[in-house]
Amino acid sequence: MKNTTPILIAFAFLTILKLHTAHQFQVGGDKGWVIPPSNDTDHYNQWATHNRFSINDTLRFEYKKDSVLVVTKEEHEKCKSSHPLFFSDNGDTSFELNRSGFFYFISGDSGHCERGLKMIVKVLEAENNVGHPANHTSTTTTTTSEAASVLKMDSDTLSQTLMIVGIIAMFTVFYM
Ligand SMILES: *[C@@H]1O[C@H](CO)[C@@H](O)[C@H](O)[C@H]1NC(C)=O
Ligand SMILES: *[C@@H]1O[C@H](CO)[C@@H](O)[C@H](O)[C@H]1NC(C)=O
Ligand SMILES: *[C@@H]1O[C@H](CO)[C@@H](O)[C@H](O)[C@H]1NC(C)=O
Ligand SMILES: *[C@@H]1O[C@H](CO)[C@@H](O)[C@H](O)[C@H]1NC(C)=O
Repeated sequence: MKNTTPILIAFAFLTILKLHTAHQFQVGGDKGWVIPPSNDTDHYNQWATHNRFSINDTLRFEYKKDSVLVVTKEEHEKCKSSHPLFFSDNGDTSFELNRSGFFYFISGDSGHCERGLKMIVKVLEAENNVGHPANHTSTTTTTTSEAASVLKMDSDTLSQTLMIVGIIAMFTVFYM
């Protein structure tokens, strides 16, 4: 029975890797991409800082009679762009965050950006410790690596991971 433990640990690693698939985020929640109330002009940055974005995640913008532009930092500050990096006005825009770093979003409609229809999104660096379980030889480093990857996950993935870790711990207690 003892030799099932490595298999379980390997299985847990594969599950963790598989769980870390790309997510889709509904920008602004249920209300979507609309001019925020005048007492809440930082609404979209607040929304963005409450989420963790990874490479390959998708932002979904839902709106009516408006537009979504990806622009440079300077253009974002000025709420103006003559040559946006990305433009869409079809009412239901999916945008893939295909690199780490900052993305600057604004509305291209006159006055909307100034009233708070703008957002800065920070995409986290790709994780490099989760992809190399073979490098970890002792239980101590494995645990550290798991803890590190847990920190980088969002809450639903986190709870699933905690469950897996709990199951591993249970089996370890039973069979060791
Ligand atoms: C803005 O004002 C509304 C109504 O007066 C209030 O319900 C809401 O909590 C306020 N929002 C913020 C972020 O202060
Ligand atoms: C993002 O997707 C591309 C293509 O689907 C893939 O090659 C790349 O490894 C992915 N990056 C991450 C960090 O998952
Ligand atoms: C991300 O996508 C944009 C536009 O679709 C493209 O111009 C850019 O080269 C891509 N970046 C990477 C790192 O793949
Ligand atoms: C593997 O571990 C060694 C030392 O513990 C470290 O120097 C090295 O960068 C690690 N390699 C990878 C790919 O994580």
